[in-house]
Amino acid sequence: MEKSISRFYFDYNATSPLAGSVRKFLAEGDFLYSNPSSAHTSGKKAYGAYKLASTELMKAFNLSDGHRIMMHSGATEGINTLIKGFAASQKRDGNIIHFFYSPTDHPCVFNLKESLQLVGHKVYPIDIDGNGNFDENVLIERMKSLGDVPILLNYTSVNNETGVVWDLERVARVKKQTGCYVHVDCAQAPGKIRGWDKLNTHLDCYTYSGHKFGALKGVGFSFIKKEFQFSPLIIGGGQQDGMRSGTVNVLGVMSMHLAIRELKENFSPDDMEQGLKYIHDALQELFGDKGYIVADKMTKNLNTISLIIKNNKSDVMLAAFDIAGIELSAGSACSAGILSPSRVLMSMGVDENDAKSFIRLSFGPDLSLELAKDYVISLTPIFERFLK
Ligand SMILES: Cc1ncc(COP(=O)(O)O)c(C=O)c1O
Repeated sequence: MEKSISRFYFDYNATSPLAGSVRKFLAEGDFLYSNPSSAHTSGKKAYGAYKLASTELMKAFNLSDGHRIMMHSGATEGINTLIKGFAASQKRDGNIIHFFYSPTDHPCVFNLKESLQLVGHKVYPIDIDGNGNFDENVLIERMKSLGDVPILLNYTSVNNETGVVWDLERVARVKKQTGCYVHVDCAQAPGKIRGWDKLNTHLDCYTYSGHKFGALKGVGFSFIKKEFQFSPLIIGGGQQDGMRSGTVNVLGVMSMHLAIRELKENFSPDDMEQGLKYIHDALQELFGDKGYIVADKMTKNLNTISLIIKNNKSDVMLAAFDIAGIELSAGSACSAGILSPSRVLMSMGVDENDAKSFIRLSFGPDLSLELAKDYVISLTPIFERFLK
């Protein structure tokens, strides 16, 4: 939990505060200012730090020679690069791609489809049920019916709005049976699910975002199978073997290595699970039939509770919590800051009125039973106002 000036921050799925080791590193002031491509001593020092951080990140996820790592500015860029880049590379070889995505995916996936269609590629939404789940066999049959064509599936391992978890073994089976390529959006995985650092080496690529796990904002990384071909999105001086040009953000990359290491050392899924269950049960009892927890039958992550409190507007509830010093989130704000009903919930069949009454609590990796008891004491009086 981040508690500053007696405020509670329960919006870890939006972003996280800096990890202690990153703050310490920054406070020490060794800013690795040099260009890692420069041949002089300070350039070599920056290059060394970047290489060390890259190697340590690969090790942290037990990846060895089969994958490369690409640094970028965050999951939005990483995902755009891999999906559009795969499509562009196939197009150069005279193919169109068949892109499968979920209507519950993050906008950086969901909103990509038009740009793919514009240049002739085909896109297919996966069918999602009321719990944010999909039927593996239906997906396999749909893919098989296309014949021998290049198929790319985006698979979001943890949903940012609902906390629903899709495990990697399921998608590995889909790949095995259909030969499709798979990109896994892992932006919400580190520190939020058991085994977040255990990947499946058969899958093609994985994308992460630094600011979701205690590193700096504006930096992320992707693991990419060596055989996975994609045209770079960002062209320039050919840094990172041409995968992503531009001077590498060494400080940002270092912050990701430190934050991941700290998360691995301190991760305590049993404590998080107990804490989340306590909050879940307390809120469910408080709401009675006036509210409900979204996708409650699904396997969920360890930090998220998404709620509908009937006949209350998300923005009104958020404002009341904010005044009381509790920071939460709801749906997605448009550029004018106005909340629209959650597309993710509506794609799961939640009706529009309920989707407008949605709020999300997402806790930090320090969640425990002890903290959960404090949180419930703080949350209860505000919730009670909306249950009258
Ligand atoms: C599931 C998911 N994918 C991708 C992103 C985009 O991440 P970034 O902010 O690094 O661009 C987010 C951020 O909310 C996310 O939750």
